[in-house]
Amino acid sequence: MARALGLGTCWMTSPLQDEATIRKVLDIPEKKEIIAVTPLG
Ligand SMILES: Cc1cc2nc3c(=O)[nH]c(=O)nc-3n(C[C@H](O)[C@H](O)[C@H](O)COP(=O)(O)O)c2cc1C
Repeated sequence: MARALGLGTCWMTSPLQDEATIRKVLDIPEKKEIIAVTPLG
Protein backbone atom coordinates (compact mmCIF):
# COMPACT_ATOMS: atom_id res chain seq x y z
CA MET A 1 0.00 0.00 0.00
CA ALA A 2 2.86 2.39 0.82
CA ARG A 3 4.41 1.89 -2.62
CA ALA A 4 1.05 2.39 -4.29
CA LEU A 5 0.92 5.78 -2.56
CA GLY A 6 4.48 6.65 -3.71
CA LEU A 7 5.95 6.11 -0.23
CA GLY A 8 8.63 3.83 1.18
CA THR A 9 8.68 1.75 4.33
CA CYS A 10 10.59 -1.10 5.94
CA TRP A 11 10.57 -3.36 8.99
CA MET A 12 12.76 -2.02 11.83
CA THR A 13 13.55 -3.42 15.25
CA SER A 14 16.64 -1.43 16.30
CA PRO A 15 14.53 1.59 17.37
CA LEU A 16 13.19 -0.68 20.14
CA GLN A 17 16.55 -0.27 21.89
CA ASP A 18 14.90 2.91 23.18
CA GLU A 19 11.46 1.40 23.71
CA ALA A 20 10.56 3.87 26.48
CA THR A 21 10.82 6.81 24.08
CA ILE A 22 8.85 4.97 21.36
CA ARG A 23 6.06 4.34 23.88
CA LYS A 24 6.06 7.93 25.04
CA VAL A 25 6.10 9.58 21.58
CA LEU A 26 3.48 7.24 20.09
CA ASP A 27 1.47 6.95 23.33
CA ILE A 28 1.57 3.12 23.35
CA PRO A 29 0.31 1.57 26.62
CA GLU A 30 2.42 -0.98 28.52
CA LYS A 31 -0.21 -3.69 27.94
CA LYS A 32 0.66 -3.58 24.22
CA GLU A 33 3.80 -5.39 23.04
CA ILE A 34 5.83 -3.57 20.39
CA ILE A 35 7.38 -6.05 17.94
CA ALA A 36 8.62 -3.63 15.26
CA VAL A 37 8.53 -0.09 13.92
CA THR A 38 7.55 0.68 10.33
CA PRO A 39 8.57 4.19 9.27
CA LEU A 40 6.62 5.69 6.36
CA GLY A 41 7.75 8.42 4.04
C1 LIG B 1 13.10 -8.34 11.65
C2 LIG B 1 13.76 -7.23 10.85
C3 LIG B 1 14.25 -6.11 11.52
C4 LIG B 1 14.87 -5.09 10.83
N1 LIG B 1 15.31 -4.00 11.49
C5 LIG B 1 15.96 -3.02 10.82
C6 LIG B 1 16.45 -1.87 11.50
O1 LIG B 1 16.26 -1.74 12.70
N2 LIG B 1 17.10 -0.93 10.78
C7 LIG B 1 17.31 -1.06 9.43
O2 LIG B 1 17.93 -0.18 8.84
N3 LIG B 1 16.83 -2.12 8.76
C8 LIG B 1 16.18 -3.10 9.41
N4 LIG B 1 15.71 -4.19 8.74
C9 LIG B 1 15.92 -4.25 7.29
C10 LIG B 1 14.89 -3.43 6.51
O3 LIG B 1 13.56 -3.74 6.91
C11 LIG B 1 15.01 -3.73 5.01
O4 LIG B 1 14.72 -5.07 4.78
C12 LIG B 1 16.36 -3.42 4.49
O5 LIG B 1 16.63 -2.06 4.74
C13 LIG B 1 16.47 -3.72 2.97
O6 LIG B 1 15.54 -2.94 2.27
P1 LIG B 1 15.42 -3.09 0.68
O7 LIG B 1 15.01 -4.49 0.42
O8 LIG B 1 14.34 -2.10 0.28
O9 LIG B 1 16.76 -2.75 0.12
C14 LIG B 1 15.05 -5.21 9.42
C15 LIG B 1 14.56 -6.33 8.75
C16 LIG B 1 13.93 -7.33 9.46
C17 LIG B 1 13.42 -8.53 8.72
